[in-house]
Amino acid sequence: MEKHLILLGAPGSGKGTQSSKLKSAGWLHVSTGDLLRTEIAKKSDLGNKVKSVMDAGQLVSDELVVELLKANLELDKNKYIFDGYPRNHKQANTLDDILKGHDYVAVYFKLNLDILVERITNRRTTKNGKNIYNLKTNPPKVEGICDVTGEALIQRDDDKEDVVRERMNVFEATIDPILEFFNNNDNLVVVNADQDLDQVYNQILNKIE
Ligand code: AP5
Repeated sequence: MEKHLILLGAPGSGKGTQSSKLKSAGWLHVSTGDLLRTEIAKKSDLGNKVKSVMDAGQLVSDELVVELLKANLELDKNKYIFDGYPRNHKQANTLDDILKGHDYVAVYFKLNLDILVERITNRRTTKNGKNIYNLKTNPPKVEGICDVTGEALIQRDDDKEDVVRERMNVFEATIDPILEFFNNNDNLVVVNADQDLDQVYNQILNKIE
């Protein structure tokens, strides 16, 4: 647990799910999507500004996201999993600057994009997004109820099929320069995210050593 981890991958590729598993190995999980959804739930000024952008499957402005991210980091004290950041080449540069003097590795979740719409439309989460289930591949023990907290599970507003397709388009239009950036910096590893949860987890641990 020496390095910060940057998880890269399409919507539904398993970044949040693997982050939950990796947290038990000592990392703190910082998800820009979760931070933004928390602002929306609070109905803060920021939340009100970003809701329609997220509901349309588009990216929130770089300036808003980086402020939120920085406000939630204590880099001298903790090792982080960055989930959902960066989303474009500019954010990759910004994160590299933020992490100057710290070791990090970017992990790309590579998989066949055709399976993702089904994965996401079957996703259910707790309200804060932290406990993630899937009606087909990872159902809760009691239908509609979180195994851990006992609360009712919900479907994210941006997990409707037409919005998911737009999020996929945004991903496909932005991912290559991000991968190139980390590859050029010798900081990129790739895992096969088509495998089951434990196999993906073991690949990550093996490749980041
Ligand atoms: P964000 O919340 O970051 O969503 P995302 O990147 O689209 O990723 P997801 O959370 O949808 O998927 P995931 O990879 O975590 O998959 P999961 O583990 O849940 O971003 C949402 C929005 O916020 C963006 O569209 C944008 O508007 C805004 N935003 C966020 N960050 C931003 C930024 N930096 N800049 C600008 N805007 C930003 O898994 C999915 C499902 O598959 C689950 O049901 C799970 O149980 C299942 N599953 C997972 N792994 C497996 C497996 N190996 N086998 C079978 N099923 C699996």
